[in-house]
Amino acid sequence: MSAAPAPVIAIDGPGGSGKGTVAEQVAGQLGWHLLDSGALYRLVGLAAGGRGVALDDAVAVAAVAADLDVSFLSGKGGDTRILLSGVNVSGAIRTEAAGAAASRVAALPAVREALIARQRAFRRPPGLVADGRDMGTFIFPDAGLKVFLTASVEERARRRHNQLKQKGIDVSLAALSRDMAERDRRDSERSVAPLRPAADARVLDSTGMPVESVVKAVMGWVAETWPDAVSNPRTGGAASGLTE
Ligand code: C5P
Repeated sequence: MSAAPAPVIAIDGPGGSGKGTVAEQVAGQLGWHLLDSGALYRLVGLAAGGRGVALDDAVAVAAVAADLDVSFLSGKGGDTRILLSGVNVSGAIRTEAAGAAASRVAALPAVREALIARQRAFRRPPGLVADGRDMGTFIFPDAGLKVFLTASVEERARRRHNQLKQKGIDVSLAALSRDMAERDRRDSERSVAPLRPAADARVLDSTGMPVESVVKAVMGWVAETWPDAVSNPRTGGAASGLTE
């Protein structure tokens, strides 16, 4: 008899909904592993650009996705360094341009297919918190807890604007809001694994909510689903790790 698979919390939602921050904090509190699936699509976009591959050349981009040479290194302070073919791209993948490239390559079915096994490999004891667009609908359909986080497009653009400002990146709020709406449209309308809540997801609109309240709400659902995980968190787990 094989052991039961490790438990999964799927946190999906559009860009700027706060799912990355919430996933990181929930994983940290539980001592579970963390998968930032968006980072994989961002890496594919970056690697394809670096090799001069056109982002709409499905066959060539899927080949890039299939042999992506990436390592996720968790640092002591909870920060994660992402190396692409040995080069630190942690900052480069977070730009708006990288996000837009990610959204384009993510619309290609062959690229999504090429990343399935890599994402599922993150599922290991004591558990996994996975954030993305299709974690609950497609990659981990048997996740024990599925959360779909939303917020108004204005609020999401404002949050992203603040994040970028803190990093010293200056973009106009109006442009950001426009790009975000365009990315939402592409992510929701694509034919494979479009952005939508799973039928059994708990939908949380975080407009106007501080991140701590969102984390608290999610941890409440975690406690209902796995009471032991909350009373006995695994300290020393991959608090911030995207570590495979
Ligand atoms: O979440 P993040 O902004 O890093 O994701 C970048 C892009 O990657 C998204 O706009 C989306 O197009 C794509 N993505 C996806 N499926 C996921 C995660 C991200 O299609 N599970």
